[in-house]
Amino acid sequence: MKKVQIRDCTIFNADCMEVLPTLEPVSLCVCDPPYGCAFVSNMRTVSEQPPMLANDEKPHLEFVPPIVRAVKPDSAIYLCTRFAEFSLWENALKDAGATVKTPIVWDKTVHTMGDVYCDYGNQVELILFAHIGRPRLRRGRPLNLWTIPREPSGPHPTPKPVELFKRCILNSSDPGDLILDPFLGSGTTAVACILTGRRFVGCEISSRYFDLACERIERTYREVDNRLPGFDLFQEYAPEQQGSLFG
Ligand SMILES: C[S@@+](CC[C@H](N)C(=O)[O-])C[C@H]1O[C@@H](n2cnc3c(N)ncnc32)[C@H](O)[C@@H]1O
Repeated sequence: MKKVQIRDCTIFNADCMEVLPTLEPVSLCVCDPPYGCAFVSNMRTVSEQPPMLANDEKPHLEFVPPIVRAVKPDSAIYLCTRFAEFSLWENALKDAGATVKTPIVWDKTVHTMGDVYCDYGNQVELILFAHIGRPRLRRGRPLNLWTIPREPSGPHPTPKPVELFKRCILNSSDPGDLILDPFLGSGTTAVACILTGRRFVGCEISSRYFDLACERIERTYREVDNRLPGFDLFQEYAPEQQGSLFG
C-alpha cells in the first residue's frame, strides 16, 4: 500500500477494501465503482489503448458495506452506475443500512451506439443517491435531471466530468469537509474537492491511474495558486444550479 499526501488530498495506491476500514469517518462519499460489465473503451486514440478496468468483470457489491461504514451519521453517498446494474447496487446499499432516495439521471448529451437496429440510443447514466441518517441538501431542492456533457476518454478510459462531481459535493457537503472516493480513476473527485474547498481521501488500485491522479491533483493546485489575489474560487466554480425547485 502506498500513501501520498498532496496538500488537502490523501490518496492511496491500494485496494479500497484494505484502506476503507482504516479511515477517519467522512462527510460524503462520491464514487464511481468499476461498472461490472468488462468495459473497454473502443475510442481510438493515438496512444496505446487503456486496459480493462480492475474488478470490472462483475459488480463487486462487497465494496458497499465498508463504504457505508466509512461515512458519518447524517451523510450522503453518491454511487454512479448504469441501468443494468442499478438494482444490484441499490439493494446492496439498502442491505448495508443506507436509505436510497430518488436517483439522479445524468444526461451525457451524446448517446452510445449499442444495438443500432433493436434498441434506443442510450444518452443517460444513473447516480444512486443514498444516505445514512437525514443529511440536508445544501442548495435548496435540486431536481434530479443533470445535463452535463460527458468527458471523452483519454489516459483513463472512463473519466467523469468534474462538473458532475462538483454538483454532488456542493449539494451534500460544506467547505472543509472530508470527502471520500474509493475508486479514484483519473482523480476527478479530488479535483472537484480542490475546486470547492473540500478535503479529499481516496484510493486507486492501478498504479498507472494512481500516478495519473497524482499529476492531475498537483496540476489543479498549481492552476488554483496561479489565480489572481482576491479571486473568489467558490464563486467562479459554483456551477449553475440546474432546475432547483427553489430557484
Ligand atoms: C469507473 S473508474 C473511475 C473513474 C473516475 N470516476 C474518473 O473520473 O476518472 C473505476 C476505477 O476503480 C479502480 N478500482 C477497481 N477496483 C478497485 C479497488 N478494489 N480499489 C481501488 N480502486 C479500484 C479502477 O482501476 C478504475 O480506475
